[in-house]
Amino acid sequence: MRRSLIKFLSCTSVRWRSVQAQVQPNGSGGDNAIDPEWATAKPYECIPGLSVWQLFTGFSKGGRYAGLDLIELHYRLREDFGNLYRVPGVMGRPDVIMSFSPEDFEKIFRTEGQRPVRRSFDTMTYYRQQIRPEIFGDMGGLVTSQGELWQKMRSISNPVLMHPKTVKVYLEQVDEVCREFMTIMAKLRDDKHELPVDFNEWISRWALETTGVLALDTRLGVMHSKDSEGVGQRLVDVSSVGILYCLAKHPDKQARLREELRTIMPSKDTPLTASMMSNLPYLRACIKEGIRLFPPTAGNFRATGRDMVLQGYRIPKDTDIAMGSLVLMRDENYFVRSKEFLPERWLNDRDADIPSAKDVNPFIFLPFGFGSRSCIGKRLAMMEMEVVLARLVRQFHFRWNYEDYKVRTTVINLPGSPLRFEVRDVDD
Ligand code: HEM
Repeated sequence: MRRSLIKFLSCTSVRWRSVQAQVQPNGSGGDNAIDPEWATAKPYECIPGLSVWQLFTGFSKGGRYAGLDLIELHYRLREDFGNLYRVPGVMGRPDVIMSFSPEDFEKIFRTEGQRPVRRSFDTMTYYRQQIRPEIFGDMGGLVTSQGELWQKMRSISNPVLMHPKTVKVYLEQVDEVCREFMTIMAKLRDDKHELPVDFNEWISRWALETTGVLALDTRLGVMHSKDSEGVGQRLVDVSSVGILYCLAKHPDKQARLREELRTIMPSKDTPLTASMMSNLPYLRACIKEGIRLFPPTAGNFRATGRDMVLQGYRIPKDTDIAMGSLVLMRDENYFVRSKEFLPERWLNDRDADIPSAKDVNPFIFLPFGFGSRSCIGKRLAMMEMEVVLARLVRQFHFRWNYEDYKVRTTVINLPGSPLRFEVRDVDD
């Protein structure tokens, strides 16, 4: 009842329509294909969603949406408005349409054109360009720039960062940093064998030191001191923490992973090479499953590359769409036994009672995005996660003895709990 009332109000109340909502069908440039459903689809204005008033009151103290973390917020809004709703743009900003349909995600990605637009990082753009230009210069450009400038930078960076050889060249140096990190970690433990609550800081320093090797071909020497770090590297370390937490809570999975690692690392400190890392299916499955349960980013974003119909509504070209994959990755309708940490779901060879992730629409699990605008650091990030997790799990038994780990949502999903892992040496 309440839901239908909200829907009704949203469609009839005075609305702050953004410029983008007024774009005519098949307006300026881009892909001119006409969505065959367009003529019969419902108008943009009838998409359910919050009114500006609901937006302000809902997020004010005591409001229906106040104090929720991002996943809880997405759940609640979906409960109120369904799988497609509109968050009105205020103070000159455009609307954002939120979708919880993998069919929509696919349609958006497949029609994004040659210069996909992702406008979700405006705050970061401002920070880089206006507040700290001396640090970032044009560096942040890839994440935040659009159009021709983006395409130019991307075509220069792709051959270096997306090439599989890059990963191979640096793997041994990344591993060297990891081995050093293991000795630091061993010393950090207290008499209960627990890591300090600020372990998060230490793993960030490891990630920053690794960036030095990858980006500057040099050792920064920051693993013993505090310093800042880049967003890409933070994504690597928060992902690694989430995966490690899942393994710490599931000693049986951890043991299975350790057995796989023993095949390439007969002793704990066997140096790693690219060829040794090429066949570790269980490690990769653990990484995917850990990221499914604890994704480091808020989901994917795009501006529509052309006019299109989503779930029966007209969406003009250049409308910002947020894809609610965080919720779908934990939705039982897509991932069966969704709350469980089941790395086996990603393997071809698995028991009959384990659901297959391969049966799930692939547009839900896209942790590095999609297409020509996908994460340029993906290969490096995967390599770093594989190396650090391989080393950590081969060397130590991890346990988690406290209440459930929580994440805190900012631009990325940071640890929201103290990282008090219990860490004991593996005997052999
Ligand atoms: C686990 C670690 C990481 C995750 C989960 C991740 C995820 C993502 C995602 C979801 C996007 C948006 C993709 C899209 O819109 O389709 C992205 C973009 C990007 N990432 Fe990563 N990332 C990670 C690590 C890194 C690292 C280590 C670097 C640096 C080498 C990096 C550099 C970038 C850049 C420059 C972009 C913007 C690409 C563009 O717009 O053309 N990322 N990343």
